This record gives sequence, structure tokens and C-alpha cells, in this order.
Amino acid sequence: MNDPGSTVPAATLRLDPDATGLAQAAALLCAGELVAFPTETVYGLGADATDPAAVARIFAAKERPRFNPLIAHLADRDAALAEGRFDESARRLAEAFWPGPLTLVVPAHAGTRVCDLARAGLSSVALRVPGHPIARALLEAVGRPVAAPSANRSGRVSPTRADHVLDDLAARIAALLDGGDTPVGVESTVVACLGGQPRLLRPGGITRDALRAVLGFDPADPEAADADRPTGPGMLASHYAPRARVRLNAASVEPGEALLLFGAERPEGHDQARAVLNLSPAGDLAEAASRLFGALRNLDASGAATIAVAPIPAEGLGEAIRDRLARAAAPR
Ligand code: TXA
Ligand code: MG
Repeated sequence: MNDPGSTVPAATLRLDPDATGLAQAAALLCAGELVAFPTETVYGLGADATDPAAVARIFAAKERPRFNPLIAHLADRDAALAEGRFDESARRLAEAFWPGPLTLVVPAHAGTRVCDLARAGLSSVALRVPGHPIARALLEAVGRPVAAPSANRSGRVSPTRADHVLDDLAARIAALLDGGDTPVGVESTVVACLGGQPRLLRPGGITRDALRAVLGFDPADPEAADADRPTGPGMLASHYAPRARVRLNAASVEPGEALLLFGAERPEGHDQARAVLNLSPAGDLAEAASRLFGALRNLDASGAATIAVAPIPAEGLGEAIRDRLARAAAPR
């Protein structure tokens, strides 16, 4: 398909997630190429996490700063446990939520196969066992850790369907496994277990309430030092950004703005909006999370200069939705 050594594929193969497509995707990954694949949260941009040259291609394709470490994805819990040192809290969280939308940051095992570049030189490693059947089948076929950030260009809205991936990365990646819409729609919850109390680094598909129920206490907030020196895109203030400006908690709508609704409330002037989408007319936060990134992309495509967003409740998955919206609204 490519010249030897080429890192820019002429075109991106779109693969069906059947036995043939999965085998092709696995072979490409093992050959050091980039393959996007669905997880239950968002599409990931995969590369062999043991191969620094392959991992370097992720940073190049996404235009991602190299100080942002990547999550290593494993086929099952035992494979993940082998890559890091798990304290009591980490073990309980892994037991309760893997496979699923949880990433655990733990001290890297001395013999970890996840290369330095994937870990951005840190002594810790971020591990996740996704629950999506296509992701699991792919990881099993590859048989080694797969580094996978969300399959968008750095700073952009995360992809929840195959077309979103191609919008950002077509011709930058060898292949894409098309698994339709991703069910959760926001990224995994990232919890650091590095000694002391576990820290919630990024709210996501596993709610704070669910973490508390397993831990028996609330996870701590990130250390101030983490915010000064962001260890990942989830900690950068401006992220998940559409082209349009994003205005939160809109009580009213200006003519020509696009409008993102939740539930039955209608802000004043809603009938003057240029385009309107409702994350969940019934007020269901899981449905809202699954639609969030697609809605931001669609409202952006309306050409409106500003997307006004109705208030979103803070409980449950609302915490992750509000986090992503706040980053989309942050000054760039
Ligand atoms: O749902 C998800 O997590 C998706 C799918 C593809 O698995 N992946 C994803 O990756 O969202 P990415 O690269 O967009 O976000 C990775 C997050 C960063 O925000 C960073 O905070 C955290 O993982 N991270 C990774 N390694 C870390 C480390 N060693 N220490 C602290 N945070 C780390
Ligand atoms: Mg991301």
C-alpha cells in the first residue's frame, strides 16, 4: 500500500469489523501502522504501544504535543495488570469496571511493554480494558498493548462515528474499523492510583457515584501541580473545540446562534436559532452523553458563529458532559 518507510498512507482503508477486516486491522497494527477502531466511549487511534516508531506516528497524525501521554489498551484484565503496579484501590476499580470505560493511571511495572514515548517519559502508565466487542476482538488479535488516544486532531471534538474520524484524519492513517456509533459517547474516566488517595483526573463514562460505591470514599481532585503541567489533553483548558464559539448555560438565544438543548426547557429566543439540536428531549444524561460530540460537530456545520448551550445537570454523567462543554467553551 505504501512506499517502505512511508508514514503518510495514500488513502485510509475503511474496514468492516468482520473476521477479514479485524485480521487486516491487526496485521496493520503489528506492522507499525495506525488503525482507528471503535471503543464503547469514542473511536481510538491505535498503534502498537511497544513500538516507538508506531507511537510517533500517532503524535504526528494528531498533531499532538509529545508531553501528552497515551492510554495503553489491553484485551483483558490480566494483561493490563501485568503492565503496572496496582494498589488496593486500583485493584478494586479494575475488578469492578474492566472491561469498561475506566482508565487507571498506575506506576508502570519495571518490565512494562508500553514504550517510553507512549508514556511521555513518565514513570506511570495509563491502562484501559475497553468493553466494546470490536475493540476487544482487535486487541486479542494483536496480542500486545495498543496505544490509542481519541481519533481526532489534537484539540478537536472526539469522534463517535467513523465519518468523524475520516473528517479529521483521512489519508493520515492506514485504516479505520467501522463499528457504527459508539454507545457511551464521552471518553473514559481517568483515575490515578499512585499512592495515597486515588485522584479523579478526568470525569467520563464511569460516574463519580460509581467510583465512590466501589472505593467506599470519594476520589480526590487532581493535584494543583497536575494542572500547571498538564499530563494529557483531558487536562488542557481548551479542548474538544468546535470551530464555533461555545456559550454555556444560555438563558436566551441571539438571532443566528446555533442552540444545543437538553430536556424540555426552552431558552428565550429559541425560535430565532439558526439550528437546534436536543441532546435528550427526555432529559436522559446517558443519551445526552452519547449524542454530545456528534451534536457539536453538526451544529458547527450549520455555520453559526456561536453555539449556545442550555444548562446541563451536574449529577451522574452530567459531570463528564459539563467538563467537555467547559473545555469546548474555554478561550483558545
Ligand atoms: O475513552 C477513552 O479514554 C479514549 C478511548 C480511545 O480509549 N481515549 C482517550 O485518549 O480519550 P486521550 O489521549 O484523548 O486522553 C488520554 C487521557 C489524557 O487526558 C491524560 O490525562 C490521561 O489520559 N493520561 C494518560 N497517561 C497518563 C499518565 N501517565 N498520567 C496522567 N494522565 C495520563
Ligand atoms: Mg482526546
